[in-house]
Amino acid sequence: MSDAPDRWSLAQRRLHWWSAALVVLTGVLAVLMVWLPFSEMLAKFLAYQLHKTFGLLVFSVVLARLALRALRPAPALEGLSPGVLRLAGIGQAGMYALLLAVPVLGWLTAQAAAGPVPTTIFLVIPVPHVLDPNPALYAWLRPLHQVAAYTLLGLAAVHAALAVKHHRQGVPVFRRMGW
Ligand code: HEM
Repeated sequence: MSDAPDRWSLAQRRLHWWSAALVVLTGVLAVLMVWLPFSEMLAKFLAYQLHKTFGLLVFSVVLARLALRALRPAPALEGLSPGVLRLAGIGQAGMYALLLAVPVLGWLTAQAAAGPVPTTIFLVIPVPHVLDPNPALYAWLRPLHQVAAYTLLGLAAVHAALAVKHHRQGVPVFRRMGW
């Protein structure tokens, strides 16, 4: 008999759904902030600041998730073949890597952009910048952040679709990770 628990802990389940909601919100704000015209300067500025805030919260929540994951064994999962489990593990490792890399790339992009726009959490807590504005670096960082972010959103969509598929096949994935 295995010692593995039969579902993720309450904290792990809540942090999973918080990170999912924050990633979707950050992605929606990214499209909105870029789309808003400069004539709507206040709304555009607020959308950028909220995008940065929620993106940095994703980073913190994911660090907490990784720490909890290191402290407790993953729950057992029956009903999936070893090949599918291995692919799921690779996909999840890729998502964790992007969940950390995308906010860091965004933080660096914000600093390299021309014009010293501060980075804050909810307009209150200042987040330090370690780079000076640098247009040449910005020209590299911005597309890198963008491609990594859209890859993360794509992987998250596939992950969600596969979870629903496995649920329909009777694998108790939503019991393990339900809110
Ligand atoms: C999970 C977290 C994040 C996601 C999913 C995300 C997503 C995106 C996406 C999709 C874009 C491209 C928008 C477009 O051009 O259509 C973008 C741009 C950008 N993001 Fe993020 N982002 C995240 C975190 C962050 C963080 C933490 C910061 C800064 C602290 C940040 C700062 C920026 C900046 C400065 C741009 C470039 C906008 C421009 O130059 O006009 N992002 N982000």
